[in-house]
Amino acid sequence: MRIVRTTAELRDHVRAVRADGGTVGLVPTMGALHAGHVSLVEAAAGRTTSTVVSLFVNPRQFGDAADLTNYPRTEAEDAARAGAAGADVLFAPGVDEVYPDGFVSEVRVSGPLTERLEGAHRGPEHFHGVTTVVAKLLNMVGPDVAFFGAKDAQQVLVVRRMVRDLDLPVEIVALPTVREPDGLALSSRNVRLSADDRARAVAIPRAIDAALALLAAGERDAAALLGAAAGPLADAGLTPEYVAIVDAATLAPRGTVDAPSLLALAVPVGPVRLIDNALLSPVPSDAPVPALSGAGSTGHAVPPTPEKG
Ligand code: PAF
Repeated sequence: MRIVRTTAELRDHVRAVRADGGTVGLVPTMGALHAGHVSLVEAAAGRTTSTVVSLFVNPRQFGDAADLTNYPRTEAEDAARAGAAGADVLFAPGVDEVYPDGFVSEVRVSGPLTERLEGAHRGPEHFHGVTTVVAKLLNMVGPDVAFFGAKDAQQVLVVRRMVRDLDLPVEIVALPTVREPDGLALSSRNVRLSADDRARAVAIPRAIDAALALLAAGERDAAALLGAAAGPLADAGLTPEYVAIVDAATLAPRGTVDAPSLLALAVPVGPVRLIDNALLSPVPSDAPVPALSGAGSTGHAVPPTPEKG
């Protein structure tokens, strides 16, 4: 397992892999690796000859300076975890390598995909920061396949749109959210929860499960499903930033779950803002869902079929 800091060194590695007929997988991360990241690295190692994990806390996607400052930085542990999961390179560039002096370019996906949900609350600039850095990382590494977690379902849709629009030659794979035994979605931010807040945070997966249970009982009205989701949050004294049911492909609000939909929520828990989501299928969960890949029986989201750009 090598730690590489420059694009030049990384490209030497990628060239050598390709010269031997191999393929390259990229798992882009901001570090503080947890079991969710490990599942992405293992999937990459299983599908490609060489797995590169990038570790870069991207200042351009943080609206809140305190969130950027407080973001956990644990490079040595991350290197060990990534290596144990099958990565051969940890690409950990400094800010100057990614954004050299005079850097003035930006890659934007415009419109509803970046303006709804997280875009409405954090500002679409958050996604402009994500697409700019993901475009850079894809160009720096040049992977055949890049792996993302479905917890950030909107990010997956935005990245796929960028890859499609710009004909980037990479396949984007999204893998299911990994959860704690009590259902809380793994997030690098969870380490900042106090014991009390950690206990209250379980209301988030409970809210999702309440909506999924009502959906499974035949309810398709979005307001009723949102009402079910509201209960566990209120019981825990949590006030969500948003809880929404939207179209799973366009993120347009839905009044009825009569097409694949996403239940998405953002909930501040103490000083930590957590997001989560689940796919809502209009058909019973044991029936195949047309046009969706990997929709598990839990209903937790796996955004639509991976595309080759
Ligand atoms: O999901 C993340 O960790 C980040 O948004 C990403 C994709 C690594 C870009 O900085």
